[in-house]
Amino acid sequence: MSYIRCHKCDQHAAMRMKHHRLNLCAEHYIEYIQKQTLRSIKKYRMFTHSERVLVAVSGGKDSLALWDVLLTLGYQADGFYIDLGIDEGLGYSSKSRMMAEQFAQSKGARLTVIDFAGEYGLTIGELAKRTRRGTDKPCSVCGIAKRHTMNAVTQRGDYDVIATGHNLDDEAAVLFSNTLRWDTDMMMRQSPVLEAHHGMPRKVKPFFRFYERETAAYALLRGIDYIQDECPFAEGSRTIELKHLLNQLEDQSAGSKLNFYMNYLKAQEQKFFNRDKDEATRANLNRCLQCGQPTTAEGLCGFCRLLAQSQR
Ligand code: AMP
Ligand code: FES
Ligand code: ZN
Ligand code: ZN
Repeated sequence: MSYIRCHKCDQHAAMRMKHHRLNLCAEHYIEYIQKQTLRSIKKYRMFTHSERVLVAVSGGKDSLALWDVLLTLGYQADGFYIDLGIDEGLGYSSKSRMMAEQFAQSKGARLTVIDFAGEYGLTIGELAKRTRRGTDKPCSVCGIAKRHTMNAVTQRGDYDVIATGHNLDDEAAVLFSNTLRWDTDMMMRQSPVLEAHHGMPRKVKPFFRFYERETAAYALLRGIDYIQDECPFAEGSRTIELKHLLNQLEDQSAGSKLNFYMNYLKAQEQKFFNRDKDEATRANLNRCLQCGQPTTAEGLCGFCRLLAQSQR
């Protein structure tokens, strides 16, 4: 019987990654995720082994997988869970809290649980209603409240950095949404690392290069129990709609999502909106030796190169 083999050891592949043209067995897949995470942490200077990391865990696959990877890599990583008191949808908060607590216990890791209502005197739903910012869905209020609570806990606990489980699907959807509105301020701010400012901790997203199915596969292969339900308010949200559209693109052309996001980061590094650079590049253009049109290349322009190749 023929089966798809691991590129490293020839055993049965547990995970196929079309966009990387890479198939791996369980053992090599786990190793791959851990190594790639380490690479992202180092490349983007997210944190070092001497810094204290606070992992924001939601009880879902991404953040628990992230905590698992950071502990395995030997980082000083404590967890932190905000009980938002969302008990619609068969007890979403209590279930996810239980997942976070179980994981911490199994690893002997430290988890701080913040009861939002206990801390601030009202639940997320009440806050949303009172501020009239979320009459039907508290999501935007919830986002602000989570961010605020995370900052407060990091400062209180003397942590250097806060790590969230945002994955490529999350990041690509945010970028897509910002691009559709050409919200350039928001676009410029989107990054795997946000440096500390005004007493706020540094924020990092070590899983930003992984597809959602990759973090799910890691959690599964590591035997991590996580909450599979989405927040009951997420249903029908704009983000989910955009994720769906990006998935359709991905189905037609593997790697679309990764290219969309990674090439944006590259564009950002190259100061995408910097006109001076554009003008300087234009001033330094060469002339194609064949057709005389302007080109950044030395020798032939892109088109003449193509023609030359076609005639070989
Ligand atoms: P979400 O905004 O639900 O997509 O979650 C993005 C990331 O925020 C997760 O991967 C977690 O790192 C963090 N997060 C979400 N919900 C919570 C929560 N209740 N407590 C702590 N961190 C959370
Ligand atoms: Fe905050 Fe859903 S997690 S509204
Ligand atoms: Zn293998
Ligand atoms: Zn405040």
